[in-house]
Amino acid sequence: MASVRKRVLVTGGAGFLGSHLCERLLRDGHDVLCVDNFFTGRKSNIAHLLGHSRFEVMRHDITFPLYVEVDDIYNLACPASPVHYQFDPVQTTKVSVIGAINMLGLAKRVGARILQASTSEVYGDPTVHPQREDYRGNVSPLGPRACYDEGKRCAETLFFDYARQHKVRIRVVRIFNTYGPRLHPSDGRVVSNFIAQAIRGEDLTIYGDGSQTRAFCYVDDLIEGFVSMMEADDSVTGPVNLGNPHEIPVLTLAERIIALIGSSSGIVRRPLPQDDPLQRCPDITLAQNLLNWSPRVSLDEGLRRTVAYFQEELTEKNGAQGERAKRIYEAALALGTPIVAPPGTAHQLNADLLLGGAAETSRVNIPLRNGNGAGKVGV
Ligand SMILES: NC(=O)c1ccc[n+]([C@@H]2O[C@H](COP(=O)([O-])OP(=O)(O)OC[C@H]3O[C@@H](n4cnc5c(N)ncnc54)[C@H](O)[C@@H]3O)[C@@H](O)[C@H]2O)c1
Repeated sequence: MASVRKRVLVTGGAGFLGSHLCERLLRDGHDVLCVDNFFTGRKSNIAHLLGHSRFEVMRHDITFPLYVEVDDIYNLACPASPVHYQFDPVQTTKVSVIGAINMLGLAKRVGARILQASTSEVYGDPTVHPQREDYRGNVSPLGPRACYDEGKRCAETLFFDYARQHKVRIRVVRIFNTYGPRLHPSDGRVVSNFIAQAIRGEDLTIYGDGSQTRAFCYVDDLIEGFVSMMEADDSVTGPVNLGNPHEIPVLTLAERIIALIGSSSGIVRRPLPQDDPLQRCPDITLAQNLLNWSPRVSLDEGLRRTVAYFQEELTEKNGAQGERAKRIYEAALALGTPIVAPPGTAHQLNADLLLGGAAETSRVNIPLRNGNGAGKVGV
């Protein structure tokens, strides 16, 4: 529990990272306002938080101004995977740039601290290895990834200009590849792609020969880094790299996932997409020195937890949605979210709310916490 209770805004709070961050902030005792336009975020990611007395959700697009009173802002809103950010590249640049201006304007108006979720993509296809924060990058301003890379670079510029010009209390973190439960199964990111393909028994798609390396950070480690950065002294503006420096070739990752799942999948190779970086690995010396932060969760452990989530998620697609309701219920209990209903009845939530509009049925029954077995889980 935090010693000071704060009102915290999380933009992109219904996304992969945002939903984990909202959970963490609630656990720390804060009031959390999750703002999301649900472009890639899912209601099911935050369904277990909806009954929490310190949690609020607002559907809003941050390319429009927002007027709320908050103490801290985590600015995460932006599609993060290439399939999503290339779907509407102009909107991607708008979210990064106009969204940053709006959130910085809000921070300026209310005197809030503000953390920007920047990205390792600001280094582009790096020519130095591993990447330190003082490396200026090798980004194409013209390629298909530029809407994201250059958008995020411009957002960083805005953060530092608001700090210099308006004394806004900024923090910038550059996030490297992060994975974990609630990654979107079809967002094309390498970990989610491989796990989904292996579970379905499909061949795993490798772009290029698979020798390109990536370093993967488990979501809980990253969220710890976010919070440490926000809580650091105002002089710690960043940019600070957050990621796991343990590097492995993409081919090795594929083989590990196949082995972990015990899948019969093979491997198919496709041409490397344009501007795809060959090597990406963070130098995290700065985070270690300034924040005393290092990732703790091993790749094998992180993959086990992620695979367990995907197995449940993909099984549901085959009809067993009750498992998901059960998981949401258990997560709600773990967080102390009050699920209140008269004894002997079941508390019902709209299935659309729980299942992100994907459900064909209209209601999900959540069992009573004190219902001595009266409630049933099911859709
Ligand atoms: N996951 C990673 O490995 C990674 C790596 C580098 C950077 N990041 C950054 O972290 C942030 C979160 O990424 P994620 O992996 O959780 O992705 P995500 O796509 O799961 O989450 C992004 C969220 O932002 C929301 N959003 C998009 N446009 C919006 C808008 N205009 N207004 C309000 N909400 C909007 C989406 O609906 C979604 O909920 C992003 O800014 C991303 O660039 C993530």
